[in-house]
Amino acid sequence: MSKFINCGLFVTGTDTGVGKTRITAILAHLLNDRGRVVRPRKPVESGCQLGDAGLIPEDAVTLQAAAKSDELLTIICPYRFESALSPERAAALVGKSLTLEEVSAACRQGVTESDFLLVEGAGGFYSPLASGVLNADLAVALSLPVLLVAADRLGTIGQTLLAVEAIKRRGLTLAGVVLNQVAPAVDPQMDNAAELSRWLGEPVLVTGHFETGDDESELILANSVLKNLAERLADNWMP
Ligand SMILES: Nc1ncnc2c1ncn2[C@@H]1O[C@H](COP(=O)(O)OP(=O)(O)OP(=O)(O)O)[C@@H](O)[C@H]1O
Ligand SMILES: [Mg+2]
Repeated sequence: MSKFINCGLFVTGTDTGVGKTRITAILAHLLNDRGRVVRPRKPVESGCQLGDAGLIPEDAVTLQAAAKSDELLTIICPYRFESALSPERAAALVGKSLTLEEVSAACRQGVTESDFLLVEGAGGFYSPLASGVLNADLAVALSLPVLLVAADRLGTIGQTLLAVEAIKRRGLTLAGVVLNQVAPAVDPQMDNAAELSRWLGEPVLVTGHFETGDDESELILANSVLKNLAERLADNWMP
């Protein structure tokens, strides 16, 4: 498969609900601020609510706003399903099956060499995405560095190390690991950041819990953690 995407990032997680959309949206803001044209993609979204205009892909709507994208939602998220199940299963329930070629072509559509392609997968790195296709397969097809988002909670060390090993086994570059504080408080005796850094041999990026839901304060908080990554990505950094 051709590797014509110059610059971009594939955001995956250790699980569903770990903060992929939240972190991807913040990165979209930060990349925008650094002058990049960000092309967000959530190529397949399940669990979409049915609205007047059809199925509404909430993650894609969030990413569209964060990236200040002028693209249609049908480009950002062409494949939408109602069931809140894995996309492969949700598609099968309505008699559809998607191929890797369809999903990777959807990610590339409308993206030029100078754009920044910012893709959010669905679920975790080894979660099914399309028919016989894992998120990992899409990341490989797009040849993008991978950012792994993990929730700061009990169990995350094992899940994170498994995902990192899988990312490396696929020959992909690990752009970083974000330990995201989804819950308002964590056990003060737990120190996932230090333990993960020790196991991985590199620092992890730790985001705080965003209490307010207010975009500005969230950005200020996140800026201190994610700005170095955003700067390197904005400069076409490929480790
Ligand atoms: N650091 C944080 N502080 C507060 N709330 C957070 C934080 N990160 C995520 N959340 C909340 O946790 C929930 C899950 O986050 P998000 O939707 O970003 O996860 P996801 O990994 O994208 O999920 P999915 O697998 O459904 O795409 C959301 O309600 C989000 O607002
Ligand atoms: Mg999401």
